[in-house]
Amino acid sequence: MRDKLGKEGTGHDWWHTHRVRNTALFIAKREGGDLFIVELGALLHDIADYKFHGGDSKVGPKIASEWLMSLGVDKSTINHVKHIIQQVSFKGAAVKSGMKTLEGKIVQDADRIDAIGAIGIARAFAYGGYRGKQLIYDPNGRVKKHSSFYQYKRRPAASTIHHFYEKLLLLKDLMNTKTGRKLAQRRHAFMEKYLKQFFQEWEGLS
Ligand code: ADP
Ligand code: NI
Repeated sequence: MRDKLGKEGTGHDWWHTHRVRNTALFIAKREGGDLFIVELGALLHDIADYKFHGGDSKVGPKIASEWLMSLGVDKSTINHVKHIIQQVSFKGAAVKSGMKTLEGKIVQDADRIDAIGAIGIARAFAYGGYRGKQLIYDPNGRVKKHSSFYQYKRRPAASTIHHFYEKLLLLKDLMNTKTGRKLAQRRHAFMEKYLKQFFQEWEGLS
């Protein structure tokens, strides 16, 4: 994964995967779950993100399962990891996650924790820049509540600041585990502080 993800400018680089792996293992040591599955799921979760494959969510699980098969990994582990990769992504404010297993819920929490706080802010602006024409903030934009994955993909945020309200600020209440919820709180509070300062500066105030 280090070779595959390498240097990537949108916040989906190897170091994101590295952090998710560490956070997922930290959570799993407190919440239980099979550590091998948690670690494998965390390492492979962004192997082929739909956002970089024309919106296709099937590519990631397919590549991961082919690779694991070539290593002789057993079928039930492969299916479990495929499920994790398939379900890990945020799909819109009103879309319920289909993650079924404790191991998957832990990986999802870890991935979401890396989307909030100081690192989450950095990743959001990096991704916003990659999108090309996405503004840092647009006061004329509207916050959308996406009710399907299709809509979430089709109607992107009006600006990166809008993405905070459409996803990042919602994540703390979407945590699956107690440990995840606890880790999310501090990072959430930091984003609120950041936004307060952002809007003050936007108005030309200090
Ligand atoms: P997930 O891990 O749930 O699939 P993503 O891969 O969609 O999450 O998001 C990866 C990073 O890119 C996150 O930090 C996320 O907030 C950010 N991101 C996604 N969509 C946007 C957007 N429209 N504007 C700014 N940042 C975004
Ligand atoms: Ni990720």
